[in-house]
Amino acid sequence: MASTAFELKGKRVFVAGHRGMVGSALMRRLAREQADLLTVSRSQIDLRDQAAVNAWFAAKRPQAVFLAAAKVGGIVANNTLRAEFLYDNLAIATNVIQAAHANGCEKLMFFGSSCIYPRLAPQPLREDSMLTGPLEPTNEPYAIAKIAGIKMAEAYRSQYGSDFISVMPTNLYGPGDNYHPEYSHVVAALIRRFHEAKVSGAGNVVVWGTGTPRREFLYVDDLADACIHLMKTYSSPELVNIGTGEEITIAEFALLVAAAIGFRGEIGFDTSRPDGTPRKLLDVSRLGRLGWRAQISLQEGIQLAYRAYLADSRWTARVTACPDKRAQGRSQNTRR
Ligand SMILES: NC(=O)c1ccc[n+]([C@@H]2O[C@H](COP(=O)([O-])OP(=O)(O)OC[C@H]3O[C@@H](n4cnc5c(N)ncnc54)[C@H](OP(=O)(O)O)[C@@H]3O)[C@@H](O)[C@H]2O)c1
Repeated sequence: MASTAFELKGKRVFVAGHRGMVGSALMRRLAREQADLLTVSRSQIDLRDQAAVNAWFAAKRPQAVFLAAAKVGGIVANNTLRAEFLYDNLAIATNVIQAAHANGCEKLMFFGSSCIYPRLAPQPLREDSMLTGPLEPTNEPYAIAKIAGIKMAEAYRSQYGSDFISVMPTNLYGPGDNYHPEYSHVVAALIRRFHEAKVSGAGNVVVWGTGTPRREFLYVDDLADACIHLMKTYSSPELVNIGTGEEITIAEFALLVAAAIGFRGEIGFDTSRPDGTPRKLLDVSRLGRLGWRAQISLQEGIQLAYRAYLADSRWTARVTACPDKRAQGRSQNTRR
């Protein structure tokens, strides 16, 4: 594993997907780097459009790229929108990586995900377990596209000497998360469900699945800090896992979220809903050797995420705008 010093200061740095959860955390963290930040909204450039992406790169010539744009979602979205998850993620990866290469980009970071390791790979998941066994069927299209992106970054490094690196974040949560009732990840889904139950005075919250799968969660601002650290110091074809190295069952996690939100009712489990991979914990020893470890505890992170959720009118407006629910939940709402 080679390490290099790569300066971001004074460079044109493109954050692809800057309005997303990861992209906006990168923007917050990059504000400290004195870089010239470049962004473009999806309405201006759809990153699936190869010609538009090439033209934008030729005009802006970013020197560093964080490729945090992707079609992302929870287990239902991944399993339902299978063609979109494959097509969008393949197109975004191929277009941006090729355009970066063709336009002299000095460094690029591609984002994989812990959910693209083989379903039954030994735990904790090591970087070298990628492509050693069958994938989790519910998100196979997403995983195939992400693996293709990682292999592209690797191939451009070996063929052209491009300094393109790939990281494998664990499950993320925090400001900018997607709280869609069907298409969200587990942290956002639980924050929303417990909050709505608290506001409506419901006595029971149902958590999808059996509650037994074990998961690792990383606050997204911690992820952004790790990415900046790696962008500035790491240069190698090997993947780098980014996580806390600690796991918790979904049932235990639900208790933590309920406590943070102040929900005091019962928690049930809908075992007709899929569990997904039984266990997913990253081996973060490589990241540790590279000089980074997570700073934000799960308790603190959930509090911060819940505060961000309450401040995000895209998601909370629906709850407070419902007249009968508003009447029941007013005292709890106005306290925050
Ligand atoms: N969230 C996690 O738990 C997690 C875990 C591991 C890895 N990751 C990886 O981290 C990266 C970012 O994830 P995220 O959670 O930040 O996702 P996100 O919140 O859904 O953000 C994705 C971003 O990509 C943009 N985008 C999607 N399709 C686009 C298109 N065709 N053209 C232009 N922009 C497009 C979106 O634009 P709009 O704002 O217009 O929608 C959004 O800004 C992904 O590569 C993901 O695989 C995420």
